[in-house]
Formats: sequence, C-alpha cells, structure tokens
Amino acid sequence: MNNTINFAHRGASAVCPENTMAAFRKGLELGATGIETDVQMTLDGRLVLIHDESLNRTTNRSGLVKDMTLSEVLEADAGSWFGAEFAGERIPALEELLDLLQGRDTILNIELKNGTYLYPGMEEKVIAAVREYGMSERIVLSSFNHYSLAYCKSLAPEIRTGILYGEGLYRPWDYASSLQADALHAYHLAVLPEFVAGAAEHGVVYHPWTVNDPERMKYLIEAGVAGIITDVPDVLAGLLASRGV
Ligand code: G3P
Ligand code: MG
Repeated sequence: MNNTINFAHRGASAVCPENTMAAFRKGLELGATGIETDVQMTLDGRLVLIHDESLNRTTNRSGLVKDMTLSEVLEADAGSWFGAEFAGERIPALEELLDLLQGRDTILNIELKNGTYLYPGMEEKVIAAVREYGMSERIVLSSFNHYSLAYCKSLAPEIRTGILYGEGLYRPWDYASSLQADALHAYHLAVLPEFVAGAAEHGVVYHPWTVNDPERMKYLIEAGVAGIITDVPDVLAGLLASRGV
C-alpha cells in the first residue's frame, strides 16, 4: 500500500481561491489526504490562514494582517479575485480549518509565516489550538524560520516539525536532526533519491513542494518521499490510484 500523503497546497488552489474554506473542502473532495496552509497573526493575536503578509493580492482589501484586527480581516472578500462564483469567501481563522478536519484522518501541515514578521507568541497559539482540538498526532508544523521550528519542538515535542528550504542544504537529515525535526519540506527540484534514502536512514521523511507535474510526482514517489505538496491533489490522487495502491 502506497500511503504517500497527498497534501493540497493552500487547499485545492488550482481550482479555488487559495487558503479559503472552499479550497480546503475541494481538496478533500478531490482526494487529498493532507492539507497545507499558511498562518499569519492579526493585531489582536488571532491566527488566520493567508499566504501573504498583506491582504493585497488575494482579497478586495489592502493592508498588513499584523496591523488589522480579526474582525477587520474577516470583512475582506478572499474569493472574488479568483472567480465571481467564489464571492463571499473569507480569510478563515485557523479554528475553522481545525473544525473541518476534526474527526477525519487528514494530515494538516500548518506553515507558520513568521519569516518576515516574527509574530511573537504565534508558536504558543498554534500549539494551544492544535492541542485543544486533540490533533497533535495529525499535524506537521513547518516554517522557513528554523528558529521558530526549534522553539515549537521545545514547546511541543509531540508535534511533528518540517524544515522548509529551497535548495542546496548539505546532508539535510543532519540539519533536521540538529533541530529534532521530523520532516524536510524541500523545494521539489532540490530532492534527489539519494537524499530521500539518506534521510530515511536517519528517521527523517521528505514532503517536497510544490509538485504539479505528474512525471515529477512519479519520480518523487519512486524515490520514496512520504508526502507531496501539490496544487492539483486530483492529479496526484489519480496517479496514486493508477499505481494500484
Ligand atoms: O509549505 C510548502 C510551500 O507552501 C512553501 O512555500 O510560499 O507556497 O508558502 P509557499
Ligand atoms: Mg505554504
């Protein structure tokens, strides 16, 4: 049985506005067994799911999340930019996604977007929410801010962490081990089969991003990655099914 996790990147972001409840629901409908989402923090300390630090690209409002309250963020339309049929979609609070996934066996990759703004207190809040929902075993916390990941691990050793990186990390499994991280979230072109094998020997798994080409998906599955982060979970689901698994 091939149990490669099929992570819908920002939800089913090829066919829905990214990081909306519509995108998350669609991802599940299309066969995703995991969801990847990005979290930022509002002025009043609430966790919201949006990729950019600002609302400018993906909503009808402008401004930085860190300068807005949750109620201001919720006023924004996060769907119309993508398509009129998505008008009225909102930027979700993290809890809305946890609600959706509660009672399912979906794996949730929460990417902490705390590289540009550090969002003091974000780690504690994310972990508190995950624990409140009893979902620690189904979560992978990732970030390009590796100090934050080490801090998450010190706060919550039971929650998996994944190191986000772009390219050229030398013996990435050693680096992962030094942070007590469980996974390597590498840009997919930085992943070679020998790296996957090297990591496996050290108990570290790969979850490469963002893979939309079926040929590249096959290459990575054969290399033995534990999961793939994709904008097209339907394509990956079809591929996994066609491999007789
Ligand atoms: O978590 C994988 C991927 O989402 C990292 O890049 O910019 O899409 O958040 P980005
Ligand atoms: Mg992301």
